[in-house]
Amino acid sequence: MAKILVTGGTGYIGSHTVVELQQSGYEVVIVDNLSNSSEKIVDQITKITGIKPRFHKFDLCDREALQKFWDEHTDIEGVIHFAAYKAVGESVQFPLKYYHNNLVSLTNLLEIMEQRSCKKLVFSSSCTVYGQPAELPVSENAPIQKANSPYGNTKQIAEEIIFDHAYVSSLKAIALRYFNPIGSHESALIGELPIGVPNNLVPFITQTAIGKRDSLKVWGDDYDTPDGTAIRDYIHVVDLAKAHVVAMERMDKTIADEKFEVFNLGTGRGNSVLDVILTFEQANGIKLNYQIAQRREGDVEKVWADTRKANEVLGWKTQLGLETALKSAWAWEKNLAEGIVD
Ligand code: NAD
Ligand code: WQD
Repeated sequence: MAKILVTGGTGYIGSHTVVELQQSGYEVVIVDNLSNSSEKIVDQITKITGIKPRFHKFDLCDREALQKFWDEHTDIEGVIHFAAYKAVGESVQFPLKYYHNNLVSLTNLLEIMEQRSCKKLVFSSSCTVYGQPAELPVSENAPIQKANSPYGNTKQIAEEIIFDHAYVSSLKAIALRYFNPIGSHESALIGELPIGVPNNLVPFITQTAIGKRDSLKVWGDDYDTPDGTAIRDYIHVVDLAKAHVVAMERMDKTIADEKFEVFNLGTGRGNSVLDVILTFEQANGIKLNYQIAQRREGDVEKVWADTRKANEVLGWKTQLGLETALKSAWAWEKNLAEGIVD
């Protein structure tokens, strides 16, 4: 059974990926400093899969801790690197916090992987690297645009660091550019844990529905889109998690000679903010209190993925729709309100 290190494995996407890896027969060890997650997620994962993943709490920016950890786990075959800070607005306010955490953790990891001959890396990148693309759907070949936040810039720089390093080392790496991950595992035992006021649309919707927020603001209805609200490619987090297992498997195959590959992970469909609100209302039988407000600074108008490369080369495609995702997000919010991870 191959052992995989999942950094950020108690986080939102990481925890769902740990479940999929375990269910595909991998042994998983998690490293997380719990800066944006809870150790209780380890128990929740165990409830779903019946297998308790090994968990180590430390900061990946701490090189000594990473060395000590690897001494204990000399047989790690691959790494899926989720750990990062991800709040766009906060990154504008505290850029050094973001450059330090997101890039030092990455270079530390690449160094130790090189020292210990660990040759497979899957990295969490983002569709944010495309900015507002000129052509839609956006493919992996579209030009990278100047990042509009330090957070977004850390993803661009990280891809470059991995690319440069892979070409002079034995590392094979896959960067996965996520579009907008939403929803929860069907058990509703794990999900997104936004700290403070959520920036993202779906947690804001579910918190409004449960009564934690008075009302939802729709940021702009004067975009050049059919209903005037902005369009994104919302992907179920379980579909996203499964792609990581496939990416890890791809690096085992000799046909994958590429040193560094990039794949879009999205559904290939765009939905507007109003589509998401109406689908949530219909799927869950709830009326949401929402108002139209001014556009949010820095938002792009519309973006959705060209998924052909992921479909054809990776052999992966999404299976779960928007309605399923929004039902699962609501089930998770209700479980959170009942203190499932308090
Ligand atoms: P998350 O905050 O839920 O998970 C990240 C985890 O990493 C957290 O548990 C946090 O405690 C941990 N962490 C952060 N810095 C660390 C460090 N230095 N050492 C150890 N642990 C550390 O975020 P998520 O939504 O699961 O995102 C996972 C990855 O995917 C991130 O790299 C994020 O930038 C990327 N991504 C997320 C989205 C999204 O919308 N959620 C979209 C595109 C890309
Ligand atoms: C989606 C749509 C909002 C909240 C962010 C990051 C990006 C990436 C994904 C990590 C937009 C609208 C939202 C609300 C609203 N993350 N909205 N009212 O903006 O696509 O991207 O997450 O890499 O880097 O910037 O996602 O969920 O914030 O917004 O109307 O209260 O919902 O304007 O059109 P976004 P989001």
